[in-house]
Amino acid sequence: MAVTLRIDEVNYPFPALPKKLSADRQAWLKSEIKRLLKAQNAVLVTHYYTDPEIQALTEETGGCISDSLEMARYGRDAEQQTLIVAGVKFMGETAKILSPEKTVLMPTLEATCSLDIGCPADKFSAFCDQHPDHTIVVYANTSAAVKARADWVVTSSIALEIVDHLEANGEKIIWAPDKHLGAYIQKQTGADMLMWQGECIVHDEFSAQALRDMKKLHPDAAILVHPESPASVVDMADAVGSTTQLISASQALPNQTFIVATDRGIFYKMQQQAPNKTFIEAPTGGNGATCKSCAHCPWMAMNGLEAIYSALTGNHQQHEIRVDDILRVKAMKPLTRMLDFAADLKLKVKGNA
Ligand code: 13P
Ligand code: SF4
Repeated sequence: MAVTLRIDEVNYPFPALPKKLSADRQAWLKSEIKRLLKAQNAVLVTHYYTDPEIQALTEETGGCISDSLEMARYGRDAEQQTLIVAGVKFMGETAKILSPEKTVLMPTLEATCSLDIGCPADKFSAFCDQHPDHTIVVYANTSAAVKARADWVVTSSIALEIVDHLEANGEKIIWAPDKHLGAYIQKQTGADMLMWQGECIVHDEFSAQALRDMKKLHPDAAILVHPESPASVVDMADAVGSTTQLISASQALPNQTFIVATDRGIFYKMQQQAPNKTFIEAPTGGNGATCKSCAHCPWMAMNGLEAIYSALTGNHQQHEIRVDDILRVKAMKPLTRMLDFAADLKLKVKGNA
């Protein structure tokens, strides 16, 4: 069952993009950031959607580039005392919840996510109160306060398996906030799910009609789709999955060309891991369409070199993630549940191999 729940007052405060830097300034910033990371026992924990130069810098400094599940795990297990989370705010909050003893800095605390904005904790909590017999499953792309209200946190890497497990136990589910990911999971698992109606402004814009036109031009291309995209786009996919799963698919599938319906930041890793293949951005609208995000998350794009340098040198108040202690303790439970479930699953898969 789906519930139509309108969050009318949502508006998206689109940020200004980082200024273009001269080559000299870029080189200086990179070498300073490298020096400061070492001096401060800090490590970059970076999402695949950040700009290529940030991913390259993360590799050069021995940090981690990954999806949101692995970012959470890596941050928790990292030996460094300071995590510089190059992603969006919910990723920094997750790192802080799992590692309260570490300092978690973000290039900018203004890097948010339309899913997080579209699921205010007070409204979500009131919705949950109306359905006390439901298990509350929230996507990682939410605030600490929303996580604190949940029984489970999931990311797109593990959502199917967790909901499958809950469905097998006969549990009824409240799902929030992404309506497209929820619809995909519901279709795959047959679970009884009440859906919050949030959306990712990047993936929501991929257009099935324009994708059909593009596929005609590249009939041998495989289509890779992140499940935050609309069902009509997901239905055309050769592979659907989290960012890590899409990168794996781009290596495993025999096709030479791929049309990719997710943030174009992912092309850095895809091209690195399959250098002889061709990757094309999926279209975000018909001819002449204007799009809000054009396949690049405006908040991920805020993670520029100047902002990372500022996190390492500037006023910590402007960069440090803090999570209220009561919320942190509550949100730790569903997050740990997810990480434990993922670890058990990995062991099972290894055992069966
Ligand atoms: P992944 O967990 O697949 O990396 O997705 C995070 C995200 O924000 C997708 O838009
Ligand atoms: Fe949020 Fe979408 Fe940006 Fe991911 S791509 S952080 S879901 S707005």
